[in-house]
Amino acid sequence: MKRAIVPGTFDPITEGHLDIIRRTAQLFDSVLVAVAASPTKGASGPLFSLEERVELVRSSIAEFSNVEVKPFDGLLVKFAQDEDATVVVKGLRVVTDFEYEFQMAAMNYTLDTTLETMFIMSSPKYMYLSSSIVRELARLGGPYRNFVPECVYEALKKKYE
Ligand code: COA
Repeated sequence: MKRAIVPGTFDPITEGHLDIIRRTAQLFDSVLVAVAASPTKGASGPLFSLEERVELVRSSIAEFSNVEVKPFDGLLVKFAQDEDATVVVKGLRVVTDFEYEFQMAAMNYTLDTTLETMFIMSSPKYMYLSSSIVRELARLGGPYRNFVPECVYEALKKKYE
């Protein structure tokens, strides 16, 4: 059985992430979405708590029978080993992603040569989407409904009410 891991902070999950998860689910028998605690991300940590981010991912992936979600804290390679995942799948969007992703993939390979990293090109309509852009639109009252699943839209509305 081929099991892939799709890691990220998912603060919050967007349609861009779901696009990558959907396509990964078509390529592998089993997919684990790994939500990183990422306590140091952003000026004051993530907007949503780890529990909230996991719940929003869980609601968003309900339609996929071979996809599950779990939180993790610590090294991705260690978590992948514990979960019997042999491939890390990441979405590649604009060129600026490349250098950072290349560095992460190289370090993860150095730490564990049995763990491969695969990249899926983001769909053109999500090339410039990111969680921070969605948070910014929500904070400033801009239109973001089409970029996130319904549950995330509701959760963001509540955060900024
Ligand atoms: N569609 C839309 N947005 C996307 C996307 C896609 N396909 N792919 C990535 N993004 C967004 C993310 O939401 C994030 O946006 P933000 O910065 O505005 O929040 C941004 O692009 C960067 O994404 P990513 O590179 O996946 O970073 P991340 O913070 O979401 O996740 C981890 C990074 C958690 C995978 C990584 O830090 C990790 O593995 N941490 C564990 C510790 C570890 O092992 N470190 C490595 C040791 S070398």
